[in-house]
Amino acid sequence: MLVSAKKMLNDAVAGHYAVGQFNINNLEWAKAILLTAEEMKSPVILGVSEGAGKYMCGYKTIVGMVNGMIAELGITVPVALHLDHGSYEHAYKCIEAGFSSVMFDGSKYPIDENIAKTKELVAVCEEKGISIEAEVGAIGGEEDGVVGSGEVADPAECKMIAELGVTMLAAGIGNIHGKYPANWQGLRFDVLEKISADVDNMPLVLHGGTGIPEEMIKRAISLGVAKINVNTECQLTFAAATRAYIEAGKDLEGKGFDPRKLLAPGTEAIKATVREKMTLFGSVGKA
Ligand code: 13P
Repeated sequence: MLVSAKKMLNDAVAGHYAVGQFNINNLEWAKAILLTAEEMKSPVILGVSEGAGKYMCGYKTIVGMVNGMIAELGITVPVALHLDHGSYEHAYKCIEAGFSSVMFDGSKYPIDENIAKTKELVAVCEEKGISIEAEVGAIGGEEDGVVGSGEVADPAECKMIAELGVTMLAAGIGNIHGKYPANWQGLRFDVLEKISADVDNMPLVLHGGTGIPEEMIKRAISLGVAKINVNTECQLTFAAATRAYIEAGKDLEGKGFDPRKLLAPGTEAIKATVREKMTLFGSVGKA
């Protein structure tokens, strides 16, 4: 059964570790991440962007698929199904479809409008027992057509949004979706420290988990980051493993073209990435 992310994230804050949000793009990814979470006895959050939602035939299809997998694969660890960077409209669509968690990314609105919309959604989610993530300060880079310039959040605005009763808060601290440029200045720990001091143990979310050096991840966790999002790194390892299989000509040997064989190396590569991240984030054995 899907669960809200509230308990797993509050436990993570108290235990000084972070839960990984791994974005899913298809059945293979969802299965690989769920099996790895079970193997590692780690709570897990499956992230779905609006674009990936459309690709996978809509939110109801995804809820059916993930619930089916949890039952058929005998998954016992807590699993939250979470809308990633949701618009106001899509947050409602996911709530209706049976997601157990949503992100409303109001960072593109003026702060007053972000507050008003977030407040309304907090009330709806609370009634349904769903967790909700809000965002202040756009995350840099491009994800599924959502482009952010990498703002650094204003700690005072973070405090205002946190006080609305959201479950978790994503604050821009120089993080970027996708690969980091060579001249990246690193995370703004000075800002993270201020935000953390002002939000009373609210779980903080670090987007753009791909390519952040390990020491920075550990430092962010020590400052209250309890959820870390990873997408691009799984895409890169999946693509590299699939390319190696094809370049070795394996797709042409025997029944190597069977999609169940063709996608197997990429799927194994995702499992390895998820294992590595869960170990780094400290969530292994916490389920
Ligand atoms: P990356 O693609 O950089 O791993 O970021 C993922 C993310 O933040 C999803 O919201």
